Amino acid sequence: MLVFKTAQELRSCFKSNTQTVGMVPTMGALHEGHLSLVKKACEENDVVVVSIYINPTQFNKIADLEKYPSNFEKDKALLEPFSHQLLLYAPDHKEIYPEGIQSKTYNFGTIANHMEGAFRKGHFDGVATVVETLLRKIQPQNAYFGEKDFQQLKIIKALTTQKKLGITIVSCPIVREKDGLAMSSRNRLLSPEQRQAAPRIFASLGELKKKNFGKKVPLMEAFFKNEIAREKELEVEYFFVASTTDLIPVSVIEEGIDYRIFVAVFAGKTRLIDTVELGRI
Ligand code: PAJ
Repeated sequence: MLVFKTAQELRSCFKSNTQTVGMVPTMGALHEGHLSLVKKACEENDVVVVSIYINPTQFNKIADLEKYPSNFEKDKALLEPFSHQLLLYAPDHKEIYPEGIQSKTYNFGTIANHMEGAFRKGHFDGVATVVETLLRKIQPQNAYFGEKDFQQLKIIKALTTQKKLGITIVSCPIVREKDGLAMSSRNRLLSPEQRQAAPRIFASLGELKKKNFGKKVPLMEAFFKNEIAREKELEVEYFFVASTTDLIPVSVIEEGIDYRIFVAVFAGKTRLIDTVELGRI
């Protein structure tokens, strides 16, 4: 596997302008969710650049950054099956933030204001700063992001449009464990008890969708919170239903609009997020 610390060295491996380049930005601690993005990128491009960089500016709590899992050797081994097509980009802070580790400020309107944008202040400025830098440095034609972080995906689409980056953002479905828990690097921070309780998040969303709450979001929220309260390891941070276009939470469902449910749940100190389509009425 070829590993590069600078984009300049990496780009010197691109053979010609006719080669299509796909990119999969990650923060490492790779799992099957990440690998599904890599697989899709390999199917759709000649060369794929996977970046592994834990971006300090998107962590609003220093403790969260400090305990973020990392295992570079294991990540490399997981990427090995794709190595004939893949270039691994593992920049250091100087490469990404030559002028000091700081976010730029963006304005994405309503899509950045709620949910993760409200509960993790500054998070999306940090994400947009690093993703803009990574995309400008590598200049792929296509970049792959997961619906697990649906709000992030929308923000990155807005970023590439706003900054006219000329890159296609490809969205990829959520990969789940057999028991339904959305795969996440943070899952490896869970204690055995927390790990056992965590599938209740997706299970409760499934139960909720089977019930008929009509247009009433507060009833859905109460149901979800009640289900989660059955697990002493879990605590709901937020439950929102928002339209998929503007990501503004609503309390009443309107006809003919696509909605998603967005939740954040703590398992001890580990914060888990999940999202499912609610569909239309
Ligand atoms: P990270 O959490 O490592 O995720 C990298 C990519 O993998 C993101 O696009 C994320 O949505 C996707 N992903 C994670 N878990 C997934 C799952 N279970 N199913 C499908 N896709 C999944 O997201 C980030 O890193 C960072 O914010 C980043 C974009 C790299 C910027 O630092």
